[in-house]
Amino acid sequence: MVSAAALVELIGPWAEGAEPLNEQLATALARAIDLGLLPPGARLPAERELARELALSRTTIVAAYDRLRLAGLARSRQGSGTRVAARRPGLTQPYLASLESMDSDAVRMPATTTAATAATVGLLTPLVDDAIELTIGALPAGSIVAEAMADAVREDLPTLLRDSGYDPFGLPALRGQIAAYLTRLGVGTDPDQVLVTSGAQQALHLIGSQLGGPGSSIVMENPTYIGAIDAFRTTGNRLVPIPVDDDGARVEVIGLLGSSAPVRLVYVIPTFQNPTGAVMPESRRRQLARMASESGFQIVEDLTPDLTLGVDSPPPIASFDAGDRIITVGSLSKLAWGGLRVGWVRASRDVIDRLVAGKIVADHSSSLVTQAIGARVFDRLDDVAARSRKAAAERRSVLMESVATRLPEWSWTEPKGGLSLWVRLPGTDAVAFSRLAATLGVVVRPGPLASPDGGFHDHIRIAYGSEPDRLVDGVERLAAAWAAYIPATRSSRPSLAVSV
Ligand SMILES: Cc1ncc(COP(=O)(O)O)c(C=O)c1O
Repeated sequence: MVSAAALVELIGPWAEGAEPLNEQLATALARAIDLGLLPPGARLPAERELARELALSRTTIVAAYDRLRLAGLARSRQGSGTRVAARRPGLTQPYLASLESMDSDAVRMPATTTAATAATVGLLTPLVDDAIELTIGALPAGSIVAEAMADAVREDLPTLLRDSGYDPFGLPALRGQIAAYLTRLGVGTDPDQVLVTSGAQQALHLIGSQLGGPGSSIVMENPTYIGAIDAFRTTGNRLVPIPVDDDGARVEVIGLLGSSAPVRLVYVIPTFQNPTGAVMPESRRRQLARMASESGFQIVEDLTPDLTLGVDSPPPIASFDAGDRIITVGSLSKLAWGGLRVGWVRASRDVIDRLVAGKIVADHSSSLVTQAIGARVFDRLDDVAARSRKAAAERRSVLMESVATRLPEWSWTEPKGGLSLWVRLPGTDAVAFSRLAATLGVVVRPGPLASPDGGFHDHIRIAYGSEPDRLVDGVERLAAAWAAYIPATRSSRPSLAVSV
């Protein structure tokens, strides 16, 4: 149950308007529900207790709870108090829609839509030649990767070719490099705690299938990495969203999740969250590690976007874990080059054994050739990461400047890192807008794809891995789409107001 004191803190200032207090309180509670701060199943404080905390009459609280029930946001059962109702997927700002009128014309997008990114890729396939794809948050390889490749072929290949070419756990030299890298970040690691995977994406898929599966729930940030939504959903897990703020996942919400979703796995991207670019501060990382050991869930921390090498960023969550409750995922894709398909999982040996069983079924082994190259990239990791950081920062500035100039109505919080801009388009159906943009030669991802519950209808994700010139051209095309979209919405031409 949420205590009255915690609830009051959670909703913040709420009684500043002219409406009746019960209405204002209901609106504030509905907003907290909409943001996911009060998740489905969370039990609200008893009316008497909340009345005491707020120094209001009990009838005010009763009326506020009544409003929530009428709007379908809460339900009450004799003896079990008032609880937050199950979410109606895809309804934009249900609190406003439902409190003002039950007839919302918001676009409804079933949560299952995000399950098949492949289908959606088809949906948003550009209809013009030479389309600009602002969807992939990855950079081209630099010269260090090219040199590592040449060195590995010349010097490592002769030895590799003498062997069978399979190693499900990964090339020993690379496992050693990954263990040393994580140890340097503050997560003491033995090489046999490392499983090399075909990119971080395979690591997430293995976690979804081997540690979760049908009947399991995985808590994840909302919004989050689209590939993680796909990996966990297609392996049968139920996705439980928690909100994100400027400091990353609102971890305290995990404690409020209803018993209908016993939490076993919590997936977070603590450094340069995808897509918001937020960084979770050390205090929140410690809090999450503590919650995991107290409540018995496992954390999956995905460090793929983290290019900091531990400089000016808090240590990984696993560095605060005495009991091996944390699984750390990473990859060379952002640090060096996605084409290597070199990722990894660091976990207890038991967990590694469970994951490798799935890995053998999936592909027997990752390519030893790219692993040999990956090991050589690690020899020069500081230089290669410095280059990627610089390129990402330059492209971020170019994109933000172009969008600010050409699309001044759009808003975002400046990402602290990563390779995507999470942008709010006021009053827009981002799915319809993204479709229109694709027809005009620029592809971006609409917010609902990055949302485990299909929310964020008015957001898009713009990835900025492309060359600066392409970014500027892409924004030009987005501006053209925006100019075409607004009149289209006003005249409500059905061809553009599509939902999927
Ligand atoms: C948070 C996160 N995890 C995992 C991945 C997948 O990385 P890889 O290319 O190593 O499979 C990405 C790529 O965008 C990502 O942003």
